[in-house]
Amino acid sequence: MILGDNLAVMVSLLEEYENRVNLIYVDPPFFTNRHYAARVGKGEDSRRPQEWQLAEGYPDHWVDLDAYLDMLYPRLKLMHRLLAEDGTLYLHLDWHADAYARLLLDEIFGPDNLLNEIIWVYHGPSPIRSAFNRKHDTILAYVKGERYTFNADAVRQPYDPNTVKTFAASTKAGFGKIPDLERGKVPEDWWYFPVVARLHSERTGYPTQKPQALLERIILASSNPGDLVADFFSGSGTTAVVAQHLQRRFIAVDAAWRAAHTARSRLVQVGAAPFSFESSLPAPFPAPAEAAVQIEEGELVLNPQVQAGVDYWEIDPAWDGSVFRSASQSLRTRRSPQVSCRLSLSGQVPGKPICVRLVGVDGSLSQAVISRVDQ
Ligand SMILES: C[S@@+](CC[C@H](N)C(=O)[O-])C[C@H]1O[C@@H](n2cnc3c(N)ncnc32)[C@H](O)[C@@H]1O
Repeated sequence: MILGDNLAVMVSLLEEYENRVNLIYVDPPFFTNRHYAARVGKGEDSRRPQEWQLAEGYPDHWVDLDAYLDMLYPRLKLMHRLLAEDGTLYLHLDWHADAYARLLLDEIFGPDNLLNEIIWVYHGPSPIRSAFNRKHDTILAYVKGERYTFNADAVRQPYDPNTVKTFAASTKAGFGKIPDLERGKVPEDWWYFPVVARLHSERTGYPTQKPQALLERIILASSNPGDLVADFFSGSGTTAVVAQHLQRRFIAVDAAWRAAHTARSRLVQVGAAPFSFESSLPAPFPAPAEAAVQIEEGELVLNPQVQAGVDYWEIDPAWDGSVFRSASQSLRTRRSPQVSCRLSLSGQVPGKPICVRLVGVDGSLSQAVISRVDQ
């Protein structure tokens, strides 16, 4: 998990990962000219936006289309370089910029390497009354050559019950071709998955979060267990969460602190295998956290007065002054809306201090280094 601008991050990854990433899924800002806030409260009512608890999300503002494409083009070129010879890039956009991005990808990958133009359809409320409701996104999938991974059997779906009935009634249906009804079909290039709504358990509150089911289909089809999957606009970390669930390795990058933090706590919550959290940005440590904690009988105890304002906190019991190794954590979840007040200090090393990091519900980060008390 890397916090930083993906341009710099991808350039620095080239040395080790050029031609080595098996699958890239990216869902960049769509060129909507909007600002997306994160919802940090619980179960906000869509009809009462004035009551939502909001925090910094991410901006999608551009001077014009050129400025947007100037952002996208060098990043797509780097993704092409990072992609393995058998790899696939999925670029997720909508009507605002998909046509322009397709031309960029035709240039970078070659027009013959467009694997699919996938349409993701969904439902949801819309204020639009002067046109049809815009309820689909476009996902452009490009490969590098003919030898790409596509696991058709991993994504097969049951046939529509009407199709099954038709073939049961007559073997002449389908112009003599009888599908293997047991095995199921390879999905079409239009997909229906519900958007991540207010009451869905996977919802993080991070804006424009994509459904895990969508990523599952992409990752199962275009990678194998052990492969490396990357998302350079990772937001709430959907790709990383699904990748690790399906036994793939992942690289997830986002420039927004709130995104990186959301992804990190989501990975902790689903019990992901240990992963590293790197930052190419100076750490935002506005307020020291010393006052918020104290050591008590082998545990670090959070002051109950600050507990309600804490989204996540973690401890490195043997801080080396540079790499934070998170040994224990507690986070707010839907089910337990307050972090635990106590974290174990096991793993202390003589001579090394304890480092504690707190993330506020507003996205603020604070850190304190506490000298070890020898017992
Ligand atoms: C549409 S959201 C991604 C949502 C994500 N797919 C999910 O399921 O949560 C786009 C993300 O791109 C990030 N982003 C925008 N410009 C970036 C850049 N230059 N480098 C890294 N991340 C960037 C934003 O911070 C935002 O989190």
